[in-house]
Amino acid sequence: MEDARRSGLHWVVMALGACLLSYLASSEGSFIGINVHSHLPSHVDPKHVVDLVKKLGVGHVRLHDANSSILSAFAYSDVEILVGITNNLIPTVASSQAVASAWLKDHVFVHLPYVKITGIVVGNEVLSKFSSAGAILLPAMRNVYNALAVANMDKQIKVSTSLSSSLLSTGFLPSQARFNSTYSALIEPLLNFLSESESYFMLSIKPLALYLQYKHNTSLDYALFLPNQGVFDTNTNLPYKNLFDAAVDATYNAMAAMNHPELPVVVSEIYWPTLGTSPEEGSPENAALFNKNLVRHILSNNGTPQRPGAEIQTYMFDPFSELKIIGVTSEHQWSIFEHNTQKPFNHRALLGFYTRDTVNGSSQSWCVAKGGIPDSQLGTALNWACGQGSADCGAIQSDGSCFNPDTYSSHASYAFNSYYQKSGQTAGSCDFGGSAMTVTVDPSYASCSFAPSGGSSNQTFNPNGSNNSSFGVPLRASSLLVAALASLPILAFLR
Ligand SMILES: *[C@@H]1O[C@H](CO)[C@@H](O)[C@H](O)[C@H]1NC(C)=O
Ligand SMILES: *[C@@H]1O[C@H](CO)[C@@H](O)[C@H](O)[C@H]1NC(C)=O
Ligand SMILES: *[C@@H]1O[C@H](CO)[C@@H](O)[C@H](O)[C@H]1NC(C)=O
Ligand SMILES: *[C@@H]1O[C@H](CO)[C@@H](O)[C@H](O)[C@H]1NC(C)=O
Ligand SMILES: *[C@@H]1O[C@H](CO)[C@@H](O)[C@H](O)[C@H]1NC(C)=O
Ligand SMILES: *[C@@H]1O[C@H](CO)[C@@H](O)[C@H](O)[C@H]1NC(C)=O
Ligand SMILES: *[C@@H]1O[C@H](CO)[C@@H](O)[C@H](O)[C@H]1NC(C)=O
Ligand SMILES: *[C@@H]1O[C@H](CO)[C@@H](O)[C@H](O)[C@H]1NC(C)=O
Repeated sequence: MEDARRSGLHWVVMALGACLLSYLASSEGSFIGINVHSHLPSHVDPKHVVDLVKKLGVGHVRLHDANSSILSAFAYSDVEILVGITNNLIPTVASSQAVASAWLKDHVFVHLPYVKITGIVVGNEVLSKFSSAGAILLPAMRNVYNALAVANMDKQIKVSTSLSSSLLSTGFLPSQARFNSTYSALIEPLLNFLSESESYFMLSIKPLALYLQYKHNTSLDYALFLPNQGVFDTNTNLPYKNLFDAAVDATYNAMAAMNHPELPVVVSEIYWPTLGTSPEEGSPENAALFNKNLVRHILSNNGTPQRPGAEIQTYMFDPFSELKIIGVTSEHQWSIFEHNTQKPFNHRALLGFYTRDTVNGSSQSWCVAKGGIPDSQLGTALNWACGQGSADCGAIQSDGSCFNPDTYSSHASYAFNSYYQKSGQTAGSCDFGGSAMTVTVDPSYASCSFAPSGGSSNQTFNPNGSNNSSFGVPLRASSLLVAALASLPILAFLR
């Protein structure tokens, strides 16, 4: 329960990229970060990356190596960075703690404290892509950890590694998932290490590959978070509505089977390709749909069926990368740039964020509880809203559609919004003693619907209508990542 009581809206804070708030909330809360590889296209330089990240309101970046010019560009940015140790460096770093120490000194410590480095990701999908280094992965991680500990930096900078969802063998029903036994001798001590060092398990999810693998049992809609009949896990009696949740719970179960149910899952990378042999396997439209729904899902802070309300920190695709992957039947690609050209897609929405109808020039807004407000303060405000304030609080009663997650933050958000909308969004109607803030993305989730502004308009999503200038919503200090992306001026500079 304590877990679930964490602010359901930490993501709001995270997404703001507002330095103080995001710093305070930095150790928890669902968020969307992005991956960045250092081999940027020739027309993009590190400054553009930082500009993009800031314009998107993204507060977290996973850099795949320790490229000094990119790290330097993030100085004073307040963006939290995970630095990568590339696979080819693993033998070196595994050789001794002194080598790991020297590497950290030259590539990481040199950027502190100007660059907010919070983690070292040792290797990328080593077990599946570079299996000859499998046996030295853990020694490399230990050397890095011990070197951090000597420098007294082990609490501030976590050590992990990113593994592929392809290591899960029987994953169709999440409860059945186990790590492929070929790798279990390596994974078990790795989990022990992550647990001892209070780190997290990083999973790179390949939604298309998982969909193709379980095609007979599921549907494309299940993979794209569209309405579908779902999958019922007969062992746990939990209904699954999308493949993402199934993959995350599968990972929890595979870890639990190795006695580590406590380790958090961080999604280190996820994308749907923009190119494939068939539209089903990759198209800008499906990529846009996937991303849009993924972002919405993560930021809803609903968690997964097995862990309702648990935060899921997720790093999306690298928007700059001309990433090519040899897929099951075709070469897949993810990038905001068109295949074989340097032109960005005419699909701002490709990045996965809502376009919104502007209602007579202004966007919709909702009122929610801020992250990090003590329950006692939220409780007082909640009582006022439902009492004197005459907010509609039926839905947060125990039989109501918004009762779960049963947290002060979630209940207060519902009540605050009701009051705010009933008051016609007047100035001051979203304050509640400083515990509330307006947002421009619909906080509704699952069966819980937050009254929209005016109650009349609707958010629409059109992956095609992306370069229409009426698309953009002016950025407001309190707007969410989602809204920030909707206005996406980034493509303008890329053109
Ligand atoms: C670092 O990144 C920049 C920008 O992409 C690139 O030009 C440079 O070659 C990279 N440096 C290394 C050592 O990879
Ligand atoms: C486990 O991994 C091995 C080696 O990559 C592979 O050959 C095998 O098919 C995998 N097993 C399952 C059940 O995925
Ligand atoms: C999944 O599909 C396969 C092939 O159609 C079928 O044999 C199997 O029973 C299905 N599994 C479940 C759990 O539905
Ligand atoms: C927008 O403005 C027009 C003209 O003032 C009005 O008729 C219409 O109801 C407004 N629409 C909304 C959604 O407020
Ligand atoms: C928004 O639009 C969708 C699809 O057109 C519709 O199903 C839904 O009821 C609308 N919601 C509201 C609040 O108008
Ligand atoms: C997007 O464009 C495709 C191809 O031009 C078209 O088939 C589809 O209906 C469009 N979608 C929307 C929502 O306009
Ligand atoms: C987007 O812009 C391109 C060129 O600027 C134009 O050809 C295309 O019709 C535009 N699409 C939309 C949906 O406005
Ligand atoms: C762009 O937006 C304007 C204003 O909403 C609309 O009139 C126009 O039809 C849109 N153009 C396209 C190509 O969608």
